[in-house]
Amino acid sequence: MIHDSNTRTAVVTTVIKTTPAFISKAQELAEELGAPFVLRKKYSIPVIQERAQVEAVFVCGNRLELYMNGQMFFYHPGMATIRIKRLLRGEEDPLLRISQLQAGDTVLDCTAGFASDAIVFAYAVGREGKVKGIESEPWITYLVKKGLHMGYPEFPELDEAMRRVRICQGSHEEHLASLPDKSYDIVYFDPMFRRTVAQSAGIDLLREIGNDHPLTTDTIRQAMRVARKRVIVKERFFSSEFERLGLTKVEKGAMNIAYGYIDL
Ligand SMILES: C[S@@+](CC[C@H](N)C(=O)[O-])C[C@H]1O[C@@H](n2cnc3c(N)ncnc32)[C@H](O)[C@@H]1O
Repeated sequence: MIHDSNTRTAVVTTVIKTTPAFISKAQELAEELGAPFVLRKKYSIPVIQERAQVEAVFVCGNRLELYMNGQMFFYHPGMATIRIKRLLRGEEDPLLRISQLQAGDTVLDCTAGFASDAIVFAYAVGREGKVKGIESEPWITYLVKKGLHMGYPEFPELDEAMRRVRICQGSHEEHLASLPDKSYDIVYFDPMFRRTVAQSAGIDLLREIGNDHPLTTDTIRQAMRVARKRVIVKERFFSSEFERLGLTKVEKGAMNIAYGYIDL
């Protein structure tokens, strides 16, 4: 059984209409996760789950799916699709405006999640830039890594940006502590909100298994050491986090979202 950081258990199988390629993909994933591989045969997901006594089932087919709590999750770049379309039309993106990013810049996204923001950063910094995302939860990391790797061939600009994002599994606290001073232009945080905001399927999974620990002032201090230009935090407009973390608040966007920053 695999355990994520909250000790959840899972097995890996394939879609019912399987192929040798799906089976070997599933076995590979099971091996990587240290999880049992289960032949799907004709069994339904609830039966597999019941027999294996696990909370979740990863299903390999054309895409990777995760079944949990009677719901199915798969990777989708989410709002990154719409945001890149808007940028291509010449419209502004609030996060990019606050980041003041230029082509060739580097970004450390400390809360990668489904990597929508990371993809938009990758689009903005272009081929010469670099975007690295840190995600603490192994299951989310897996879905996102596989999803980014599949890309989005029908939308070349999005596809290219998705393929440029590098995701690492681990805690941003540890990752930041290991980095030299001034090693990224921007260090970005989008922590789980203290209260829920209705969102897409991807975000629902984040709500289910995302790490919801608040940022600490120590983490912000480390981020200020690692960033060359700005540290940016996304929060709800009325959140007291801006004041607690010493951030200058800007922008009240859609759904009461705001950004806070510290210039360096
Ligand atoms: C609100 S989501 C980020 C969404 C993301 N900006 C996007 O565009 O899809 C926050 C994510 O950060 C992760 N996270 C929270 N604390 C973390 C930490 N200390 N280290 C690494 N990842 C963390 C959560 O597991 C969750 O997936």
